[in-house]
Amino acid sequence: MATAQDIGSAASEIRQGGLVAFPTETVYGLGANALDANAVAQIFEMKGRPRFDPLIVHIADVGQLDALVKDVPPLAKPLIEQFWPGPLSLVLEKQDCVPEIVTAGLSSVAIRFPAHEMAQALIRAAGAPLAAPSANRFGRVSPTRADHVSQQFGDQLTVLDGGPCRVGLESTVVSFVEIDPGQPVVLRPGGITMEQIEAVIGPLKSRTKEDSRPSSPGQLSSHYSPATPLVLAEEGFSPAGENRVGLLSYQRPLQSERFSVVEVLSEQGCPREAAVKLFAALHRLDALNLDQIVAWPVPEAGLGRAIMDRLRRAAAK
Ligand code: TXA
Ligand code: MG
Repeated sequence: MATAQDIGSAASEIRQGGLVAFPTETVYGLGANALDANAVAQIFEMKGRPRFDPLIVHIADVGQLDALVKDVPPLAKPLIEQFWPGPLSLVLEKQDCVPEIVTAGLSSVAIRFPAHEMAQALIRAAGAPLAAPSANRFGRVSPTRADHVSQQFGDQLTVLDGGPCRVGLESTVVSFVEIDPGQPVVLRPGGITMEQIEAVIGPLKSRTKEDSRPSSPGQLSSHYSPATPLVLAEEGFSPAGENRVGLLSYQRPLQSERFSVVEVLSEQGCPREAAVKLFAALHRLDALNLDQIVAWPVPEAGLGRAIMDRLRRAAAK
């Protein structure tokens, strides 16, 4: 676990324009001072992330919001009250101080107030909001433990160890600029469920096919991919011949002996537990040099929607 001293020196790296990986309750982030365009440019370089994919800006106090966004629409306020700090990012019209590189040239910016105390302590000590994507190479599986980050980036990068992430899936991204101004739309399912959001502000509009341009490129169909080919199983699936196949199962499977290795996400069928374990299980399976990973579908309600979103993208070519 990182100490207060580690957080202090990480904050000073940030103030000097450097990058630091830090824990949040969702996944580990790769952070830089969001107001320093040169520092943010290094995030894109290190991740191999295309410049058209905008970053989320992390704050540690709701009071930081006014300097970053033009306006907080009425329906955004109850969401902030209910779910911040927590796994919810809000896309709002940006102020001029937010560099274009952060938003990939968009006039909006995604803002999130993470619940992890170490993330909050780092943001406060750095004295600036932090732009941070998930701390993985572009398109790969997101990190939910400090060692997932060091495995991908080596020991060149400072990684604050805050233990395993307690949510395990990225934040839900809700945009207020996508359809009608002020009307919320979910761009990415995540740690806060649709059901939770609708319980606070009523039914959400969903985007139609026509307006589903990838303004949120986390929505690109291939993402979260292990190096090992991954397929989503259908009923009756059976691994072929000599292949070494790993199974990513939701609950305990009936015929596990046909697979070289089985990862069970939740014996009891609890979506919250499955979400927490999902990326770590994918990292473990990916390290085994299997011929294939087969993922068993999870019921699509609540957090199951976000889990299936990640599995479909992991399976996409
Ligand atoms: O939980 C999380 O959100 C984690 C932790 C580190 O906070 N971060 C994360 O960042 O998942 P990243 O970069 O992997 O995903 C950011 C998502 C992408 O889908 C991106 O397209 C979307 O947020 N996004 C960011 N700014 C946007 C904007 N202005 N308009 C629309 N989508 C935006
Ligand atoms: Mg990511």
